Amino acid sequence: MKDILASPFISEMCEITSNMYRLGWNERNGGNISVLLDEKDVSPYLDTEHVLRKIPTGFDAPSLDGRYFLVTGTGKYFRHVAHDPENTLGVVRIADGGRTAELLWGFSDGGKFTSEFPAHMMSHMARLSVEPENRVIMHCHPTNTLAMNYVHPLDDRSFTHTLWQMCTECIVVFPDGVGVLPWMVCGTNEIGLATAEKMKEYRVVVWGMHGLYCTGKSMDEAFGLVETVEKAAEIYMLTVGKPRINTIHDDELRTLAASFGVSFREDFLD
Ligand code: 13P
Ligand code: ZN
Repeated sequence: MKDILASPFISEMCEITSNMYRLGWNERNGGNISVLLDEKDVSPYLDTEHVLRKIPTGFDAPSLDGRYFLVTGTGKYFRHVAHDPENTLGVVRIADGGRTAELLWGFSDGGKFTSEFPAHMMSHMARLSVEPENRVIMHCHPTNTLAMNYVHPLDDRSFTHTLWQMCTECIVVFPDGVGVLPWMVCGTNEIGLATAEKMKEYRVVVWGMHGLYCTGKSMDEAFGLVETVEKAAEIYMLTVGKPRINTIHDDELRTLAASFGVSFREDFLD
């Protein structure tokens, strides 16, 4: 068996969580990540017949049966992942129609996957149904996006429209827009179901007054979505309340999308 600590998926998780922490998106144990892995990715590093523990999930996820995930642990600090991956991360295989997660590696202090596991698994199911190449669900608490939640209406159309106006490249990076949920209790199946419903339409979902859920075919793609939304929210927070004498107009957004060849949510423009 090869050393799992040297595997590309653990190395990338260590690098990305360190960056997310340093960017201020993941204070304390804030945020969580899950990555769908293929059996061929994990089998050089793990005996897939050797299940360390079976952990109940409390929800159904039949389409994920037999799938492997690298996932962050509940209560674990992103700041610690890079120097303590075996304790802060786990590799699980979904079984029993989603009711059980079979632990194959990690959570070495007896811990378990993130409390947001329902939202992650339900989001994976929703994204895979519309984008079979999706692999990553990334949750974090970026400062400016959160601040914007307190001073801007929380609906998909107006939130997306404002973000698109804040940086020229936003409409190119997330032409499908941003789904917005109201404040809800986190860690529940209910918020998981609501997130998954939005994920059928959007790759970015805002949890009102809580944070962001971003998705992607790779860690880089999900990370890039967080970065872009957070940059736009930062520009908004730097300018809100000041006289706005310039903006990017809707006809300019249309020209931009056309010139980059992206199809965007036209109903989100006036
Ligand atoms: P976990 O520590 O359970 O991952 O929770 C962090 C979080 O951000 C909850 O939304
Ligand atoms: Zn959170």
